[in-house]
Amino acid sequence: MLFQSLRIRNVAIQPAHILAPMAGITDTVFRRFIKRLGGCGLIMTEFVSSEGMVRQNFRSQRYLYYTEEERPISAQIFGADPAHLAEAARQIEDLGFDLVDLNLGCPAKKVVKCGGSGLLRDLPLLERILRAIRAAVKIPFTIKFRSGWSDEEIVAVQVARMAEDCGVEALAVHPRTRLQGYSGRANREIIRQVKQAVRIPVVGNGDVLTPPDAAALQAQTGCDAVMIGRAAASNPWIFRQLAEFFQTGFYREPEDADRYDLIRTYYSMLVAEEVPGAIGKMKQFASWFTHGVRNGTELRRQVQTAREASEVLERVDAFFASLTPPQEATIAI
Ligand SMILES: Cc1cc2nc3c(=O)[nH]c(=O)nc-3n(C[C@H](O)[C@H](O)[C@H](O)COP(=O)(O)O)c2cc1C
Repeated sequence: MLFQSLRIRNVAIQPAHILAPMAGITDTVFRRFIKRLGGCGLIMTEFVSSEGMVRQNFRSQRYLYYTEEERPISAQIFGADPAHLAEAARQIEDLGFDLVDLNLGCPAKKVVKCGGSGLLRDLPLLERILRAIRAAVKIPFTIKFRSGWSDEEIVAVQVARMAEDCGVEALAVHPRTRLQGYSGRANREIIRQVKQAVRIPVVGNGDVLTPPDAAALQAQTGCDAVMIGRAAASNPWIFRQLAEFFQTGFYREPEDADRYDLIRTYYSMLVAEEVPGAIGKMKQFASWFTHGVRNGTELRRQVQTAREASEVLERVDAFFASLTPPQEATIAI
């Protein structure tokens, strides 16, 4: 079976389906929500600034909150100062995370000045960083990187070999350049080249929207695991669909009742956990979760114009009651 499992030293990832780190999305509530839906073998925090961690910044500490239910869990850090990144990695280990990951992919202007994909242009500094983090922690250390800064500066294979040499234990590749941002297509040939170049596990990422896409990614690249980002925000069942597809050759599309259950569950978790700014999160997710819902535009409008979290829940209930009886929900989490 495809992507059945992957081991990164002592950490078993089963199945080898990974939720990509996404700032503003993959917080503890969303991660638990994904875990409960099933089919996801590893989750990662949003990226956290090593500078913020060294300063014991409140926001960084909040990003690093997780629960036992989320294991195995990886924490992702970013920065450009080897000593500060090493200190941040030590903190990650002390907090009990199973893995620590270094971000070498963020394309945002303010991040590339101090890490993220900016480090792909300074490989001597990157090597010092990799060695400093490796020396600082015992837990498995992984990196997630783009293919390079631009089409003229593709460094993926070089970075992969250097990382392996420095003791990095797995690589996740999002094969777009920094200049590409999120435009165009992910170039899977680069994942294939990275896989050929190293012995450590390679995780393929980029533009996987459906289970057949994930199968194609594996066939084209030979990657050991699949990582999914944006598709998980609009279709949080994607991981379970992968497992179902690889076992049976089929997967089920969610129905209105499933979507009701999904929206209701996530929103209720935000309210129960007293997440600061819960209503903002509800509005943010409304635009993703309502894709595929019959008359979804109206549901989005209802959520966007609500003033309180409880009002959002009432409106979601009323909307779906007018569409499909909620007691027919077939996917419960
Ligand atoms: C809103 C958003 C936030 C992201 N935040 C991070 C991040 O914190 N760390 C990271 O390594 N990648 C981040 N990414 C990139 C994703 O992890 C992933 O590499 C990219 O979206 C490609 O995968 P996909 O096509 O499955 O979405 C982010 C992407 C999006 C859309």
